[in-house]
Amino acid sequence: MDIRSFLCCTRGSDRKEKGKKESTWRIFSLKELHAATNNFNYDNKLGEGGFGSVYWGQLWDGSQIAVKRLKAWSDKAEMEFTVEIEILARVRHKNLLSLRGNCAEGQERLIVYDYMPNLSLLSHLHGHHSSESLLDWPRRMAIAIGSAEGIVYLHHHATPHIIHSDIKASNVLLDSDFKAQVADFGFAKLMPDSTTHVTTRVKGTLGYLAPEYAKLGKVSESCDVYSFGILLLELVSGKRPLQKINSTTISITDWALPLVYEREFSEIADPKMNGKYVEEELKRVVFVGLICAHNQPDKRPTMLEVVELLKGQLKEKFAAIENDVMLTMDRAADCNDEVSDGDDDSGFISEGKEQIQEIEKAT
Ligand SMILES: Nc1ncnc2c1ncn2[C@@H]1O[C@H](COP(=O)(O)OP(=O)(O)OP(=O)(O)O)[C@@H](O)[C@H]1O
Ligand SMILES: [Mg+2]
Repeated sequence: MDIRSFLCCTRGSDRKEKGKKESTWRIFSLKELHAATNNFNYDNKLGEGGFGSVYWGQLWDGSQIAVKRLKAWSDKAEMEFTVEIEILARVRHKNLLSLRGNCAEGQERLIVYDYMPNLSLLSHLHGHHSSESLLDWPRRMAIAIGSAEGIVYLHHHATPHIIHSDIKASNVLLDSDFKAQVADFGFAKLMPDSTTHVTTRVKGTLGYLAPEYAKLGKVSESCDVYSFGILLLELVSGKRPLQKINSTTISITDWALPLVYEREFSEIADPKMNGKYVEEELKRVVFVGLICAHNQPDKRPTMLEVVELLKGQLKEKFAAIENDVMLTMDRAADCNDEVSDGDDDSGFISEGKEQIQEIEKAT
């Protein structure tokens, strides 16, 4: 369905909803954003992504904002930008970072969000805040469930449905209560083709890409499920999606699987938690993460199921997942014993090798 016609037919139908949104989303002037960010001062810069740089700012009313400034733009994308922004402005959920507004003046394209004082999950797991160990187990569990609920909204409740296509730790922001706010949904289409950043030709981030997306460019909800599985493993372990061990790059699934097989869950747990976690819940997150990051899309659960599984519901399905993951390991071990360099039929082990080849191609 053409996005523009979607906007035309929904505008009149939910005026009440729209009224609510209009009070929170508006057009900003460039002058106002210059003033808020001290002329996009380097000291205000929060970081840089595929889209451009992000700056901290403060509005005249004292509220704090994050302003994303597009680094490259093409004329033909201009209309799409406005339409897409309008759609995203309508998306509201407690676990999705909502837009406050946008600005399009001359060549400048800017998007304004609420500032998230606890920055991104990435900064707590691997960045500036990682040494402070602020992510205790209850916070990690709440982030896992909250971000899953945000993605459920995108996949199942937003109209039209939205595939995020860049789920990763830097796109999970944390508010003052450490509540997860999934960011950058729906922006895959807004990225200029020239964007390189840490993305691949198919847009996304190495280590989080579902194999069918990386190889064939096939996008579907289950690609988000795959990336979310990687994110879950990262959240419990504090390990990066791809690690260099003795000059070999290894994926987080390949790292976790042998430990799961040996039932060494304490080895998987992020040492920064000092052993303070609920083992049953940790085990649950690990198994759900692994099944989400399965090579075969049809083995992956839906995000609706993921939320229930994380909450400890769907007990039978969880038992089946546990079995599936353990059996996969058995098969992988047998394959490794019998044919050392043959194709293995495990859903996970080959994935790591493919990912590594992807990286080698990209570097
Ligand atoms: N609303 C916000 N509040 C606080 N920090 C933010 C906000 N939005 C973005 N950031 C931070 O700014 C940095 C750059 O974000 P950006 O989304 O541009 O890049 P990215 O997430 O690394 O990659 P991608 O372009 O793939 O999303 C990140 O560290 C992100 O956590
Ligand atoms: Mg981002």
